Amino acid sequence: MKPTTPDSGRESRYMIRAFIFDLDGVLTDTAEYHYQAWKRIAEEYGLFFDRNANEQLKGVSRRRSLDLILEINQAGQRFNEQEKEQMVREKNRIYRNLLKNITDRDILPGIQGFLKEARERGLLLAVASASRNADSVLNRLGIKPVFDYIADAGQIARTKPDPEVFLDCCRNLGVLPHSCIGFEDSQAGIEAIRAAGMRSVGIRVKVTTLAPDLPYQGTEELDVQQVLDYFE
Ligand code: G6P
Ligand code: MG
Repeated sequence: MKPTTPDSGRESRYMIRAFIFDLDGVLTDTAEYHYQAWKRIAEEYGLFFDRNANEQLKGVSRRRSLDLILEINQAGQRFNEQEKEQMVREKNRIYRNLLKNITDRDILPGIQGFLKEARERGLLLAVASASRNADSVLNRLGIKPVFDYIADAGQIARTKPDPEVFLDCCRNLGVLPHSCIGFEDSQAGIEAIRAAGMRSVGIRVKVTTLAPDLPYQGTEELDVQQVLDYFE
């Protein structure tokens, strides 16, 4: 697993201090609910939208997601600003309705054990999500107290792939980016982690531009020791 070029081992030795997690699609499967909600909006407004197109929306803010759907449909001019705001509001209403059913059973496989072990080893933990619903999702999952810091998407100006939300986490944890590992399921998120100067673990990322440093096919494969061995 570790890079085997002659001297890369020593060069890449950093003490890992923190794990910083995306929420939707990494800690819980709300990525599916975001998809379902946008699908309903697309159908209602006669727009094309499928799972492939949805990959571009992962990790991206609510409003930027709508703009991407409109771009795919070359429909940016078809709706005025008021209508666009209405679509975004409606999407969030549908999404929040879907959230009503989530409980700790919706934490993705292996995540609880992974977080517990990481904490026991003294790693700092944070959540770097673009979602303004992150707080309520984490409350419903019952895992909020595990984290040392949860970024407030409302205070983040630039959406992933911009590194802002990850840098905000590093700053608030009091650690340098090169000693942090970011966990992401989206291409925009992997780019954001790289741009922050962090290293990335990917969870079933559909790679189009930049591959995660350490890719996994699912959260059940995550292993604290393996992640630390890979990056330290
Ligand atoms: C996450 C999801 C995106 C979603 C964004 C905003 O990054 O991956 O799909 O658009 O959060 O979520 P919100 O709950 O604020 O609409
Ligand atoms: Mg995600």
